[in-house]
Amino acid sequence: MSDFDAITITEEAVTALKSFQLPEDLAFGKVMAPVMIECTYNQGTWSEAKLVPYRKLTLDPTCKVLHYAQEIFEGLKGYHTNGAGPFLFRHEENMKRFNLSAERMAMPPVPEKVFNQGVEAITSYCAHLIPKKSGDSLYIRPFMFATENNLGIKPSEHFSFLIVASPSQAYFSSGSVKVLVEREAVRACPGGVGHAKTGGNYAASLLSMINAKKKGYDQVLWLDAVTKSNIEEMSGMNFFAVYGDKIVTPSLTETILNGITRKSIIELARHQGIEVEETTMKIDDLLADIKSGKCTEAFACGTAVIITPVDTLGLASGETFPLQHEQGPISKQLRQALLDIQEGTGDDPFGWRKELTPKV
Ligand code: COI
Repeated sequence: MSDFDAITITEEAVTALKSFQLPEDLAFGKVMAPVMIECTYNQGTWSEAKLVPYRKLTLDPTCKVLHYAQEIFEGLKGYHTNGAGPFLFRHEENMKRFNLSAERMAMPPVPEKVFNQGVEAITSYCAHLIPKKSGDSLYIRPFMFATENNLGIKPSEHFSFLIVASPSQAYFSSGSVKVLVEREAVRACPGGVGHAKTGGNYAASLLSMINAKKKGYDQVLWLDAVTKSNIEEMSGMNFFAVYGDKIVTPSLTETILNGITRKSIIELARHQGIEVEETTMKIDDLLADIKSGKCTEAFACGTAVIITPVDTLGLASGETFPLQHEQGPISKQLRQALLDIQEGTGDDPFGWRKELTPKV
């Protein structure tokens, strides 16, 4: 008898899990668990959601997602590092954001119970595949895409909702990132889809990332599309600067993804007595503050990267603004406090963690 009344656990999925051998070298998002959650939407009706063996998809060449990019996703993690668990962290927040992205992209909401129980079921059934080292996890990727087959530009009436999972190590193996300030291209504009977690926002970032890599950087820092003077985010990561014992981050706008890690860091920092400022952050002020030593640390944060220090900010002109290669004291304190909650090694004063029962 399953604990998940919204998800059918197939025998084939359990067989696939029992015969799966986890490779030793995992990296991030490369090794996939042998099962996935799958359900479909057809003209107003959702099918039964099932845990099934991982498989390749067959798509018609006119499938709308391939042409018009009607697609959304989420990223979250299951943790199983200290013998207890597995644990999920604020997965209901991912469900809410997923359905906000769905609304913006003219897609149907996924039933809340299917999203939440789907994430819980894949984590419980893959508990034995979650790497045990602190910082490692099961990276869980729910996603939905348009499956209607024809080339007319109009919202699809058919969708697939899937959840796949990847036993993963840290996102950045180097432990810190070098970031190039992007003063030309933009990621998102007012009235657009920057606040939705949709693939096109990430596709829009790739050319800048190639250019940044050629200059020796790992990531780019996006500025607002209108004035090109205010810091926004880093594609898959939000941005914080540390001024002594205060942390500062751009206020949310419709062109910034509302990061769940960002939000958690703000709540956690305030709980620990660290001052937090959400404000318009001018890039020129930040660069001057790094030069003068007023800004003492900066970090990227997100589900995948947790809290990763920014080693250097740079400009296309070649000018660099070095920070700390190692984690500074505030980044280190917040990263550990966050991981303690997520991994079950510390108290959870906010009730953010959900403990599940391992299956298989
Ligand atoms: C996440 O942190 O889950 C993200 O969405 C980043 C990802 C694009 C790797």
